[in-house]
Amino acid sequence: TSIGGRVAVVTGGASGIGRGIAQALIQRGAQVVIADIDSAALGRAAEEVGAIGIRCDVADEADVRALAERVLAELGGVGILVNNAGVGPAAPIAEMSIRDWEWILGINLWGVINGISAFLPLLRANPDGGHIVNTASMAALAPTRGLGAYAVGKAGVMALSEVLADELADEGSGVAVSVLVPGPVRTAIRESQRSRPDRGRLVDLDLDRAGFDWVRWETPEAVGALVADAVERNERYIITHPELWHRVEARNLAIRAAFGVNP
Ligand code: NAI
Repeated sequence: TSIGGRVAVVTGGASGIGRGIAQALIQRGAQVVIADIDSAALGRAAEEVGAIGIRCDVADEADVRALAERVLAELGGVGILVNNAGVGPAAPIAEMSIRDWEWILGINLWGVINGISAFLPLLRANPDGGHIVNTASMAALAPTRGLGAYAVGKAGVMALSEVLADELADEGSGVAVSVLVPGPVRTAIRESQRSRPDRGRLVDLDLDRAGFDWVRWETPEAVGALVADAVERNERYIITHPELWHRVEARNLAIRAAFGVNP
């Protein structure tokens, strides 16, 4: 999908990966709307990267519909939708309250569903098609202890992205779908509960202190460039850390063994 001259909407665009994606799309000639729940960060980021900032809580269906209507009215349509807003605090599943589940899945899974529901009609109406990017995580392909609810939401985003990509390809609407599968990226994700009204029982994930010293940290800017490349080349999976394949493979081998297929 071409980027130049298109209108792009990036959720969670006020910080981290979303901000990096917004920058990369702007560099390649898109007009970018960043949508975020954090008004203060949104205003700053919009000014710094040269985007339009619109406050939106992706977990709120009405908010996302209002965002789509406003973008349509003010910018005439949307060519690229990046469902990226997400939160990442952690807790063992046994310790999570229902409210903790609702909060994480409301943003990480329902946020993407709300985005697709509100924006897909606009994308399909484009004579020149469009592109959807959904931000999943390595946790979708290799679920880990402590990140249960996070992995559940991201596995949902992965499945949604794959099925939607196939269905849109079948109908020939020219709307493509990519799913971003980041490993560790230096962002503000460890302070995810900054936007949570009621603090629950989750703890902020601190990979630095959790003994993940093997981690290669990627920058939001580099991830943004990878995403823009994948949009231009219509690539379905966007992988930031190829060296983490062994974690996906270990899980796949266990599943293959259960199927009784010899390696
Ligand atoms: P970040 O915390 O720097 O940025 C997330 C942005 O989303 C923030 O600006 C925040 O205000 C916004 N946001 C939070 N709740 C929202 C809501 N309800 N509505 C609208 N905006 C909301 O974190 P980061 O790392 O840039 O996260 C972006 C995405 O990348 C998330 O989906 C996260 O799960 C995913 N990811 C991040 C990884 C990392 O290592 N940083 C690894 C794998 C996936």
